[in-house]
Amino acid sequence: MAEIVRKSSVDEILNHWILAGSCILLMITGFAFLFHMEAVASVFGGFNTMKEVHNWGGVVFTLSMLYSMRHYLKDAFEYDADDAQWFKVAGGYLSHKVKVPPMGKYNPGQKLYYLAVVGAGIAIALSGFAIWFMKDNGTIMLLAHLVHNVAFCIFVLAVPVHIYLGTLANPGTFKLMVSGTLPLEEAKRRYPKWMKAAGKM
Ligand code: HEM
Repeated sequence: MAEIVRKSSVDEILNHWILAGSCILLMITGFAFLFHMEAVASVFGGFNTMKEVHNWGGVVFTLSMLYSMRHYLKDAFEYDADDAQWFKVAGGYLSHKVKVPPMGKYNPGQKLYYLAVVGAGIAIALSGFAIWFMKDNGTIMLLAHLVHNVAFCIFVLAVPVHIYLGTLANPGTFKLMVSGTLPLEEAKRRYPKWMKAAGKM
């Protein structure tokens, strides 16, 4: 039987589902607040209960985002010459003629995506808690709403791209979100530097 490699631990898989679930719930309810969508609010029992769901969803998102640092933060700060070359050829997404350099466990696009999630995540969490608890301070309210909306735009741009790349654009990748495993031969092809470091090739 083909040897299987574990890319994500059970801990990582659960963390990702909670992070993704809370993030998407926040994006849907956030959109509904921004554009005053009665139909969406009615699903949650009205705007007041949707606000409760949004606030506590924010707590879940903040905790899972902070917890995810133990999985991805170290990798997200490490780049080498192959990563620089990966940017030059746009990861091979724009042309099949370019040679994509060998990758480690995560490609630089994924590492930058993670830094965007953490950066925008911290900004959206801090401003969200300010909106929740500092209603009496007009200046902070104004600033917090601005930061909250700018960070929201980053999520609106980055998350759909991430979902597309994790599903349709790279068939087989979604399996990593569910089982966290892949066949050794595929791992060797997709993450040769990681497999070399693990002594598998
Ligand atoms: C619900 C739709 C989503 C799908 C289908 C999805 C899919 C995936 C997959 C397949 C991976 C593993 C990639 C690999 O190891 O090569 C992954 C990793 C990851 N996902 Fe998601 N994801 C979703 C939502 C989210 C959301 C909403 C966030 C954050 C707000 C997020 C954050 C991450 C992070 C930080 C990683 C690890 C590093 C990276 O691949 O960039 N994901 N996702």
